[in-house]
Amino acid sequence: MISYQAPGKVILSGEHAVVYGKPALVSAIDKKLTFRLFQDKKIKDESLDFIAQTVKKFLAKKQVKFFDRPYSFEVQSEIPIGRGLGSSAALSVAAVAAFLEFYSGKKFEREMINNLAYEVEKKFHQNPSGVDNTVSCFGGLIFYRKEFEFLKNISLLNFKIPKKIEENLFLIDGGQTKESTREMVERVKEKYNKKQTLIEELLARIEKTTKKMTVSLVKEDANLFSQMIMENEIYLEILGIVSKKTKKLLEKLQSFGVGKITGAGGIKEGSGFILFFSFNKKGLIDFLEKNKIDFFAFKQNFEGVKFLEKNEN
Ligand code: PMV
Repeated sequence: MISYQAPGKVILSGEHAVVYGKPALVSAIDKKLTFRLFQDKKIKDESLDFIAQTVKKFLAKKQVKFFDRPYSFEVQSEIPIGRGLGSSAALSVAAVAAFLEFYSGKKFEREMINNLAYEVEKKFHQNPSGVDNTVSCFGGLIFYRKEFEFLKNISLLNFKIPKKIEENLFLIDGGQTKESTREMVERVKEKYNKKQTLIEELLARIEKTTKKMTVSLVKEDANLFSQMIMENEIYLEILGIVSKKTKKLLEKLQSFGVGKITGAGGIKEGSGFILFFSFNKKGLIDFLEKNKIDFFAFKQNFEGVKFLEKNEN
């Protein structure tokens, strides 16, 4: 048995814009997925088979000796599914890392794992920016920009989200999205094709917000940070990826702080998790508990993908 773990993520600012070559500021979170591979009778799973094939093709191309064999697997995850917290990317990253070692007996660099996980994510989602798998792979805080398909600028920031910001940050469950990430990316693309000037302007503004938010972290400026959360939410609403239900919830939460959706969003029902900066933690927690809305305190992860264990089973 071989097992690897990979964290989920939160896009602090720049979702969707990142698909158009704008930067995104992303943090890995302390919710993890564990993937275990066993040398066993095969379980049929199309997605996992695709990951296994991608890894084998890569090993063959790089002329790394490997031993093809049947497998079965197990996934255990603390990352809520389909809510913008990167559960799919965490699975791709942990599974790629595990298959690489399963077939070749070797451990690989994070860059390699990340490149392969990106190939896998491309199969699962249309035209992904690669930001999700990157932050799950490296952990910490990342300023990410995809220049070209073959060139992605991954800046691992050497500072953390300051304590005075992190201790007021929450992730609030705004409900599962009916749409997939792929559908939401396509929606934005259609809007872009119809109203290019407006969307270009919006994307440029989101870029500014992302940069200012990054500065707010360096300067430990909680006020600027919260303003950028608010600004980002407004732009995402104009982009048309926030549902009525989520807007209503944000309105109700107004007296406790400011929030934005994080990830691809959704419009039919929920828009996934809300990243919320609270000015009144007690009031917020009381409200959420009373209304039975799931939430957890935001906590950064710094490890990224991690080898857990290996044994003869
Ligand atoms: O909802 P998620 O976690 O899949 O985030 C998607 C982020 C997008 O910018 C909308 C798409 C992408 O590929 O970056």
